[in-house]
Amino acid sequence: MTLNDSRILIIGAGLMGAGIAQVAAQAGHAVLLFDTRAGAAEAAKAKLAQTLDGLVIKGKLTADAVQATLARITPVDALAPVDLVIEAIVENLDVKRALFAELEAVLTPEAVIATNTSSISVTALARDMKRPERLVGMHFFNPVPLMKLVEVVSGLGTSPDVAQAVFDLAGRWGKTAVHARSTPGFIVNRIARPYYAEALMLLQDRAATPEVIDACLRAAGFRMGPCELMDLIGHDTNFAVTNSVFAANFFDRRFTPSLVQQELVDAGFLGRKTGRGFYRYPEGAPALPIVSIAPPRAARLVVHGRGALAERIAANVPEGLREFDSDWVGLAIDGRQLRLTDGRCARDFGPGTAVFDLPLAPVGDIAYAGDPATVAWLTRLGLVPRAVADLPGLVVARTIGMLINEAADAVSQGVCDEAGADAAMKLGVNYPAGPFEWLAFWSAAPVVALLDRLDQHYCGERYRVSPYLRRLPT
Ligand code: NAI
Repeated sequence: MTLNDSRILIIGAGLMGAGIAQVAAQAGHAVLLFDTRAGAAEAAKAKLAQTLDGLVIKGKLTADAVQATLARITPVDALAPVDLVIEAIVENLDVKRALFAELEAVLTPEAVIATNTSSISVTALARDMKRPERLVGMHFFNPVPLMKLVEVVSGLGTSPDVAQAVFDLAGRWGKTAVHARSTPGFIVNRIARPYYAEALMLLQDRAATPEVIDACLRAAGFRMGPCELMDLIGHDTNFAVTNSVFAANFFDRRFTPSLVQQELVDAGFLGRKTGRGFYRYPEGAPALPIVSIAPPRAARLVVHGRGALAERIAANVPEGLREFDSDWVGLAIDGRQLRLTDGRCARDFGPGTAVFDLPLAPVGDIAYAGDPATVAWLTRLGLVPRAVADLPGLVVARTIGMLINEAADAVSQGVCDEAGADAAMKLGVNYPAGPFEWLAFWSAAPVVALLDRLDQHYCGERYRVSPYLRRLPT
């Protein structure tokens, strides 16, 4: 089956519905736009006209193209029979179910209903439907015209042909579609949980400031650090998503929400929108002090270990000898050791040792713990040292390790495949790389070792290693 020439009814003319209407009309579809709020569909079309006119002024669209797009969008005041319905109404199970019952009375049996729900089970939404095989998730990201990802979510009853038709349609609209099974958080909202959770754990442990956590993760290639990102999303929204994933997983402690965030919500410090979250606004995150420490001269430098990270160190220390068969990666400076974190703490190695974080980018801020004199050598590696508490996995390593772990669990549970997980995280939340791309760079054995050490340290369930990850070749 194909939906490529379908007439489309979009229900809900809010933020998402309006964006979906724009994309569908620009792709040439006749679009009907319906909203129960009187005047909402007309207002959405008028606002879209303004936005598109702005793009004409900037030279990004022609006036003719805008006219043609707008002519394809018709606000309507009743449900109408079409080939495809895309639902983007309020995020409420009962309201959506009631709408689907109304729709089934109007639509032909062949029509497809796609829901843009971001958190409700597609399986549960389909429960009372006469034709549950015709319901599929079509999860767009905000802002719809700019974000490339669409998660195509299949519930237990969804027909594979229906999912494939929606997948193909999204591709025709210039989006990258990824198949997902309907499980809590689908792909992106599930795999992304540790990005926030690890920052919140570090804050709860008083291990680092929000400024340092954000700087280190920005240096690792993320557009925003987790603290500034939570401030942008709004702590109420972010906390609600975390709670819903936690509850939907039968309170698996892996997904436990944070008291640190609960307190921000209790205080009404919701982030940018209230003028205060981790930071105060409009100022935002203060800049970190500039660090300029020159490493002292050393008699004997030895680069330890193999692999991409050892090679990067060796490139910065060309005069260094090599100890390829070492069981650690880093730099020995006379009697001192500067070790890449493997989940052990600096204190586990005695005096003269510092551990440093996973350097995903060759330059920039990097977390360390341990001997400050040894740490001066990080500047030789092109890195800017930022002190944090001596905890396993520092900042970036534990965050990336946990993102990989969550993605591994998602794949092993059939939520998506590895390529789908990578595409979803890069296109849905702009990650600099996908979890399995990081894994290819870092390799499975050190990730598993790091997570096992976090698990021993916290003695909880959060750092339970995915059996899928443990089985991967090292
Ligand atoms: P919104 O509040 O901007 O728009 C919802 C619209 O639906 C409103 O105009 C409302 O009047 C209308 N509506 C409510 N009940 C209706 C009904 N029974 N029949 C017809 N119209 C009805 O909400 P938004 O943000 O556009 O979200 C819509 C859906 O998209 C939700 O399911 C949400 O979870 C999902 N979503 C939202 C994202 C976001 O970033 N806001 C991202 C991805 C998905």
